[in-house]
Amino acid sequence: MMSQGIVTVSYIIATILFILALGGLSNQETARRGNWYGVIGMTIALLATILGVVERHYEILFVALLIGGSIGVILARRVQMTQMPELVAVLHSLVGAAAVAVGYASFMDPGRLSHFSGVELTIHDIETYLGVLIGAVTFSGSVIAFGKLSGRISGKPLTLPGRHFFNLGLLLGAIWFGREFVLQSAIGSGMEPLIIMTVIALLFGIHMVMAIGGADMPVVVSMLNSYSGWAAAATGFMLGNDLLIVTGALVGSSGAILSYIMCRAMNRKFIAVIAGGFGTSGGTSASSDSDEDQGEVAPIDVHETAALLAGAKEVMIIPGYGMAVAQAQHTVYEITKALRAKKINVRFGIHPVAGRMPGHMNVLLAEAKVPYDIVFEMDEINVNFPEVDVSIVIGANDIVNPSALTDPDSPIAGMPVLECWKGKASIVLKRSMATGYAGVQNPLFFKDNTRMLFGDAKETLDEVLKVL
Ligand code: TAP
Repeated sequence: MMSQGIVTVSYIIATILFILALGGLSNQETARRGNWYGVIGMTIALLATILGVVERHYEILFVALLIGGSIGVILARRVQMTQMPELVAVLHSLVGAAAVAVGYASFMDPGRLSHFSGVELTIHDIETYLGVLIGAVTFSGSVIAFGKLSGRISGKPLTLPGRHFFNLGLLLGAIWFGREFVLQSAIGSGMEPLIIMTVIALLFGIHMVMAIGGADMPVVVSMLNSYSGWAAAATGFMLGNDLLIVTGALVGSSGAILSYIMCRAMNRKFIAVIAGGFGTSGGTSASSDSDEDQGEVAPIDVHETAALLAGAKEVMIIPGYGMAVAQAQHTVYEITKALRAKKINVRFGIHPVAGRMPGHMNVLLAEAKVPYDIVFEMDEINVNFPEVDVSIVIGANDIVNPSALTDPDSPIAGMPVLECWKGKASIVLKRSMATGYAGVQNPLFFKDNTRMLFGDAKETLDEVLKVL
């Protein structure tokens, strides 16, 4: 067995590596290195815990590691890039479930009353109660998020009458049963309030995520990420494990910062996300939900597209979820190179919630080796659209929807978008007139200076490249 001193040093090294990992992940050029720091840190943490903290029943531990590890490897190998947010939601739900399990185990531990007494027992009980509470919210919220992201549950927000009072009632109930739990636990009972609170927390998690509209899911995913971190930190308190506390706090706070950044990008109020619903009408706005009265769309073919691109001086490429589905990023870069060889200035405009996970487009473009200096954030590039000759919108929909700015009833109202219609021409690549993730029709497609290039983005772009 490893000495306590070595365990502590290993934990400190792992913590430093986790911080370096987060630092590395904040920049594309250092992201790969950041990942490695995380992998090494987690390996050190696991080894120190197995060799220095666990005292007996190694056989159970290794069977659990084998089962969990195998499932992890199989899932990670099978999952498509576009299913990544679903996988992340499932993983968050497991962190939540683990926190609930550890909470119950720690409460049922026969040695609890002999280990703790007086104030220490109260503190331990509060830690257990909070751990189970946050864990249960994270678990049920993540399961619903998984359902919504994978299309198994409708993306439309559930707006129960008096939903804020319902949430308030659940919160007050959780506080009341918390008091009961702490009082009863001192005299050897307390299971009943713990179970009732668990049910309340599960209901709260379900309701919170059900109330969120499709386009606002990115904020929810990063918020659940944050919750899973706090659930892990609470587990760390219950088990008296410093590394788990620090790691949980790192995940919790970085998730909270990401949620805040997402809220700013989507022009949402953070507190409104937690309360749910965002006051959206659930996509019932007539102007956004149907394409009636919007006129005809004007199609274009690959030859005309290539000619328009070749005749331009300024080209803006706007990638979206469809580029990820079609795996068109390599062809996009080939076209970029062909255009740049003709002395055409090509830039990429990236919306913060394009695709299905934070940084989705940046990852794809980095994979295709698109140079970073021609990739711009929405805030940097939106002012430049009037000078753009051709914007080519590749499998993007919600992120270029002008109704976000003009229709206050739209579920995406208020979300900043890439304003490509202000340029001379836009070409939109998609397979049909289907809506995007938020389920709202896009008036951009019907504008005079928009042309639709229908088909799979990879196939049509391959043709465009050939013509070019
Ligand atoms: P979407 O609005 O979902 O639009 C994607 C479009 O791509 C669809 O309209 C689809 O039209 C088209 N498409 C799909 N497969 C294609 C293919 N093989 N070839 C060509 N086109 C294809 O995507 P977006 O504009 O990137 O916006 C992202 C949305 O997802 C936002 O509403 C955002 O809030 C939400 N969301 C984002 C995240 C994060 S963190 N980024 C997480 C969850 C949800 P067709 O079917 O007609 O081809």
